[in-house]
Amino acid sequence: MSRAQRKIAHINEVVKQTQTEPNSFDEMEIIHQSLTPLNWNELSLNTACGELSLSSPLFINAMTGGGGFKTAEINQKLAMAAHEKNIAIAVGSQMSALKDEEEKNTYEVVRREHPNGIVIANVGSEATLEQAKRAIDMVEANALQIHLNVMQELIMPEGDRDFSERLRNIEDIVSNISIPVIIKEVGFGISKETAAKLESIGIKYIDAGGRGGTSFSQIENNRRTDRLHSLNHWGIPTLVSLREIQAAFPNVHLIASGGIRHGLDGAKALISGANMFGMAGPMLRTVIDQDVEGLVNKIDSIHDEIKIVMMTLGVTSPNLLKGSPHALFGKTKEWINQRT
Ligand code: FNR
Repeated sequence: MSRAQRKIAHINEVVKQTQTEPNSFDEMEIIHQSLTPLNWNELSLNTACGELSLSSPLFINAMTGGGGFKTAEINQKLAMAAHEKNIAIAVGSQMSALKDEEEKNTYEVVRREHPNGIVIANVGSEATLEQAKRAIDMVEANALQIHLNVMQELIMPEGDRDFSERLRNIEDIVSNISIPVIIKEVGFGISKETAAKLESIGIKYIDAGGRGGTSFSQIENNRRTDRLHSLNHWGIPTLVSLREIQAAFPNVHLIASGGIRHGLDGAKALISGANMFGMAGPMLRTVIDQDVEGLVNKIDSIHDEIKIVMMTLGVTSPNLLKGSPHALFGKTKEWINQRT
């Protein structure tokens, strides 16, 4: 299967994956406060994640590009909604366009539709410094994501098998690029041990990319004839990953993603230490089912939900949610307790 065919197969699989199973966000409750000192007009969604100034903590996370007309059209629609609501958007892995010039348009369309917004470039950890620079230029990126996806590659029959140079590659990029470099997982979570390695080479931005939403073990398994089902639920749940990185490395600029379904999950991520949160699968399903207008409405609802939580907890901006009163339950609580 070619890289372009694989991208379309991924989209078709994600459209089928409806998120009905509970995840770690269901094992966290925010404690209601009945007396808020605020007026709704005082609330603002403006926030920051390190050097990135944002008009919302919500962003559309990396998904697609490089699969020809269909991915260009999806990216255009995602970018139109991001532009209308002025939220940040990450493009999917640009590795294909670095190898084939004809694929570039499927990414460039995002910058065209969101000319002054925050656009985040995306490469794999196999990328060289020169490739990372070209990916940034391609979309005039404000930040660069480098994705770690070892489990996905290993389940993918045609996936990579040699990861021995990855940390050195990342170090070369982060040492020579001036915009924020974000290391992200794709749904398997980043542990504090991995965060320690990343921190030691100068990484300041980590997207937990945890388990609980889109599952690339399931997606890749569905493309295999000899399925490795035991690995379908591999990974660190997003809330666990976030909280252990936050506890061990409080100065890292934390980003949450993986299984965030709505504004309430987003607020729980912000309370757990994230500065911004990304959604991928739910955004893709919405834009495919309900077009740009449906996605704009979804973003509006997410913003309303975050503001309602902020109002109730008595904070005027998303970054002040960190540490607000909450309780943890079940497996998520046990996991966090064991790791602290
Ligand atoms: C992804 N994701 C992804 N991530 C990345 O860094 N580069 C990529 O090219 C892709 N490609 C991709 C395609 C599709 C169709 C989906 C749905 C997702 C992973 C994505 O950014 C995110 O980390 C996970 O999907 C988990 O978040 P959700 O989907 O649970 O919100």
